[in-house]
Amino acid sequence: MKRLLVSFVLVLPLLIPGWTFSQFVASQYLENIPPPEYYGKVILDNFSRKSGVDPVVFDHWLHRAKFTCRLCHIDVGFAMEAGATMVSAADNMSGYYCGACHDGKMTIEDNVVFDSCAVNDTEEERKRCGRCHSKTETGQGEYDYEKFTAGFPLLKKNLIDWEKAELLGKVTPLDFLESISHERPSLKAQRDFSIEAAALKSNVIFSHKKHTVWNGCEVCHPLIFRSSKKGTVQYSMFEIMAGEYCGVCHLTVAFPVWLCAKCHRDSVQ
Ligand code: HEC
Ligand code: HEC
Ligand code: HEC
Ligand code: HEC
Ligand code: HEC
Ligand code: HEC
Repeated sequence: MKRLLVSFVLVLPLLIPGWTFSQFVASQYLENIPPPEYYGKVILDNFSRKSGVDPVVFDHWLHRAKFTCRLCHIDVGFAMEAGATMVSAADNMSGYYCGACHDGKMTIEDNVVFDSCAVNDTEEERKRCGRCHSKTETGQGEYDYEKFTAGFPLLKKNLIDWEKAELLGKVTPLDFLESISHERPSLKAQRDFSIEAAALKSNVIFSHKKHTVWNGCEVCHPLIFRSSKKGTVQYSMFEIMAGEYCGVCHLTVAFPVWLCAKCHRDSVQ
């Protein structure tokens, strides 16, 4: 409820005057989003600092370039809410969550994925701890954002245009990992449809085809969109900006809601 109120205050100036003015207000909000290398960053600290190790820094830009959302959020089982999964060192060492891949054995792109947590660790093992348990500001990872994303197509504010990056073959996210995923028949993608926004001339275009590349079906149905019959549930921009419905992803990981025209268009491109 509180989040809904906050978003109400945020959205109000966007809804009163005309579309051009909304765009101006939106551009002001866009100024305040984190810089691209921080967009989609999750800091995990349910247990770390209490146990005397640095918090864990998880970057979506690196992982989503390699895997689909579905693989992690359905097959591996991470919640779509920072801190909610309560991943612990013990989970990782048993091969769950981060440890599902970071086990020192799995090979991805001809590279053995480095192992995660350990107890009674040796000097040699301790070298890898800082790749995840890293200082938020400086970081201790080997991957460099600038280097990794050089040549990726960009949106405003230098955010990565992931849709285009995938189209151009800059990224080819894996949707299946032998040890983690279950073989399943692929479901037929649904046709694209437009959602009629009450207060707007410019309807929202929702593309099932484009979302399915990253998300599969289970990421959205039934958790985010319970009803699957189009139009059964009415959701407003207030709710979206409070992190519900489209806002589950389009506030923190997928392109931000402040790029209004990415959703409010007249036809599917
Ligand atoms: C390698 C695994 C992995 C991939 C791939 C991945 N995520 Fe995540 N995601 C995580 C983890 C881990 C968290 C943090 C969960 C927790 O703390 O409980 C997270 C959190 C989130 C959150 C909550 C962020 C916040 O600030 O509250 C959203 C939204 C999200 N992911 C969306 C996506 C979307 C959309 C994609 C695909 C474009 C994606 N994720 C791909 C692992 C992944
Ligand atoms: C692949 C990433 C990764 C690596 C590498 C890693 N950890 Fe962790 N570790 C985590 C995550 C995620 C958590 C849970 C973070 C949180 O919410 O506090 C965690 C938590 C911990 C905790 C907190 C106590 C607990 O029960 O959860 C300790 C202690 C720990 N790790 C030790 C280590 C040590 C020692 C190393 C190096 C040998 C290491 N970790 C390497 C991801 C990693
Ligand atoms: C689906 C598999 C998968 C899962 C799940 C996963 N990762 Fe990764 N992660 C990778 C791969 C692959 C790389 C690239 C590793 C390499 O090139 O050595 C990577 C790289 C990283 C890096 C970059 C290290 C560096 O030196 O820059 C960090 C940090 C990291 N992961 C943390 C995490 C944490 C924390 C979790 C759990 C919250 C997690 N990962 C879950 C597959 C995964
Ligand atoms: C990014 C989220 C998302 C993904 C991923 C997704 N859907 Fe949907 N789906 C929606 C939304 C939003 C609606 C409209 C429902 C509403 O308005 O309540 C919808 C509606 C539907 C409908 C009803 C269509 C109609 O015309 O009434 C079906 C059937 C459906 N989805 C099946 C699927 C299948 C099958 C997949 C995987 C191939 C899938 N969805 C993936 C968000 C998603
Ligand atoms: C489960 C996460 C998730 C949800 C929920 C979600 N999206 Fe997306 N959406 C994505 C991801 C991931 C992309 C790929 C682009 C990116 O990451 O910036 C995307 C891309 C898009 C695009 C760009 C496609 C193109 O044509 O270029 C539009 C438009 C869009 N979403 C609208 C919506 C609308 C409207 C809703 C709510 C009805 C919604 N999304 C719900 C994850 C999500
Ligand atoms: C991720 C996609 C997405 C983005 C980005 C987006 N919207 Fe929306 N918008 C929607 C959806 C979905 C609806 C609801 C349509 C319905 O069911 O009536 C909506 C509805 C609206 C409405 C109608 C009133 C209401 O609350 O339902 C207004 C006005 C609106 N949006 C303005 C904006 C403005 C201004 C921006 C930029 C700051 C923006 N939207 C960005 C998806 C989006």
